[in-house]
Amino acid sequence: MAQDVNANDNVVSTAREGAVAVLTLQSGPVNALGTALRQGILAAVEAAEADAAVKAIVLIGGGRMFSAGADITEFGKPQSGISLPDLLNRIEASTKPVVAAIHGNALGGGLETALACHYRVAVPSAKVGLPEVKLGILPGAGGTQRLPRVVGPRKALEVIVGGSPIGAKAAAAMGLIDELAPEESLRAHAIAFAERVVAEGRPLLKIRDRDDKIAEGRENPGLFSEFRQENARKTRGFEAPEACIACIEAACRLPFDEGLAFERAEFQKLVSGTQSAAQRYVFFAERQTAKIPDVPDDTPARPIARVGVIGAGTMGGGISMNFLNAGIPVTIVETKREALDRGLKTIRTNYENTAKKGKLKPEDVETRMGLLTDTLEIEALADCDLIIEAVFEDMGIKKEIFSKLDTIAKPGAILASNTSYLDIDAIAAMTNRPADVIGMHFFSPANVMRLLEVVRGEKTAKDVVATAMQIGRKIGKISVLVGVCHGFVGNRMLAERQREANRLILEGVTPWDVDRVVYEFGLPMGPFTMSDLAGLDIGWSRETNKSQSVRDLLCEQDRRGQKTSAGFYDYDAKRKATPSTVTEEIIAKVAERQGVTRRDATDQEILERTLYPMVNEGAKILEEGKAIRASDIDIVWINGYGWPVYRGGPMFWADTIGLPKVLERLRAYQAEYGDAFKPSALLERLAAEGKGFKDL
Ligand code: CAA
Repeated sequence: MAQDVNANDNVVSTAREGAVAVLTLQSGPVNALGTALRQGILAAVEAAEADAAVKAIVLIGGGRMFSAGADITEFGKPQSGISLPDLLNRIEASTKPVVAAIHGNALGGGLETALACHYRVAVPSAKVGLPEVKLGILPGAGGTQRLPRVVGPRKALEVIVGGSPIGAKAAAAMGLIDELAPEESLRAHAIAFAERVVAEGRPLLKIRDRDDKIAEGRENPGLFSEFRQENARKTRGFEAPEACIACIEAACRLPFDEGLAFERAEFQKLVSGTQSAAQRYVFFAERQTAKIPDVPDDTPARPIARVGVIGAGTMGGGISMNFLNAGIPVTIVETKREALDRGLKTIRTNYENTAKKGKLKPEDVETRMGLLTDTLEIEALADCDLIIEAVFEDMGIKKEIFSKLDTIAKPGAILASNTSYLDIDAIAAMTNRPADVIGMHFFSPANVMRLLEVVRGEKTAKDVVATAMQIGRKIGKISVLVGVCHGFVGNRMLAERQREANRLILEGVTPWDVDRVVYEFGLPMGPFTMSDLAGLDIGWSRETNKSQSVRDLLCEQDRRGQKTSAGFYDYDAKRKATPSTVTEEIIAKVAERQGVTRRDATDQEILERTLYPMVNEGAKILEEGKAIRASDIDIVWINGYGWPVYRGGPMFWADTIGLPKVLERLRAYQAEYGDAFKPSALLERLAAEGKGFKDL
């Protein structure tokens, strides 16, 4: 019978099962290894070691998981109690075998704890990993030194620099887990495992003592530079990946304790830097988006068993795929057979390509296609719980569709528009059920991009908001709630950047220089590369075009972007871009006609003039209440436009520069270029009070 020896300790409880002490971690939802839990583990391990009746120790997580690692909220604060690396060294030095029993997650410091144990058992559904790199840091409790000793430097590089968790079965195949346990009896299995270790007199396996696997790193040091090259694109701009690689190299080169000291020093550098502060901020900011002050978490959501999508174009197809992927049946509607067939074919081809890459089982292609019903009759949407309109950006057409939907949709169905700019309230007003109308703005390609702007109309019901936010998460998106305004959060701010980029090129800065500066800042591409990719002729037609802007003239010459192999840039057959003299001539002509004075601009000016107006617009969005919090704006920009996560989003970035400085530059540009740069009242106030967006 279990004997409770430490019931009063509320973060680690110890139970005795025969000669095995079972230490159960029970601290918060994820067993984050904060001070109390570290101290609790230390005390429990020492007590078990001191107890002559105990022959072995099992460390197991109570609740949902083993442990999600270090308590991220403690970073940057003075440490109290034993440090995690010291605690782990203490566990490893235990004179009695310690077995980690893993379910749920063992991530970061959680996995490092397991690596300091002498044996590891896990249920097949468990996930283990070292995701620290995603927080701008590295596994700082021996992970970079112990993991390569178990799995070898190559796999360690993948796990630590990649940062993605791996399933327990794959971990067992790598030798990271000693034994898999049945899902329902992890505890009993781990106890039996520990008893076997004792009975068989098996040694205390200390990973620090192993060096068979790291020999490869010494014999073939070139593997590190190969890895660097292979991953250069993914790791561009980030500091942590290189530090991780250096630590794994050190693990192969240095004795264990020196390697640990090297890791510690690298960890300290990263954890006190701006990149890690930004990435930790983003971790919590993502979780904040789900919290809506006047729509409590327990607001009942409407059930969504079938979704209708109007439009089988690029957006409609991509949107449908999200739901099919989540096992939710979709009815897709088009007006013409040909367009419908084209849309269906694209969806199928997308799935088949994914299957060819081995990322989808061939039979799943059919399962997903089997969930899709196609029709030319909009009336077929009568049984849908959520209907998403994804037709052209034309208010007239959208209004027509919504007044029709009002007569077709069943009571309680949610009517959503995928508009990226238009007024949801005006669309809702076409129905007799404006409370059921909402915006669901997906980003292209809709089956890939993580962002979903959920646009709350003036009359949208709270449970409709809750449902849209939740269904977004269910299909793997980050849902961010925004208010009705032209372009909502993302595109409204993008328009600011675009305007200034266009002004800069008329002044004589080349489009290539603007793009280079924005790219070097860390965005995936600059404004002109982006325009070429999207197509310059969106909303343009030869007949109606009168303004003769650079874009108009490019389109007139059939330079419509990548699809015509020419836009701002020229493209070769492999879509490689080269600057175009034709474009430069067109720009010079327009500048002359408009009487724009040509001048030079520094990279710093290009950066400020394209990005500061975005920050200013973000402040206006907050002022107007169109976003709930500054961090929501940052999440929009990171997930919708590829803003570099190590800069934390435009609003966080502005805080790191200092709002008085941003304000001063905006004022200077206002004096030169007019009110497009007029600082928002909120920015003025925060700067005057010595505050940042983080203080709102
Ligand atoms: N520290 C502090 N708080 C944490 C945390 C951590 N490591 N991990 C999760 N939380 C918090 C979340 O913020 C959330 O709080 P709220 O409920 O207040 O919003 C709560 O715990 C539950 O988390 P999730 O909503 O994310 O729960 P989930 O079930 O969806 O996901 C998870 C669980 C996969 C473990 C996810 O929380 C996660 O990825 N956590 C971070 C893992 C990580 O990066 N670990 C490395 C930490 S750094 C480290 O360990 C450094 C070192 O080497 C010393």
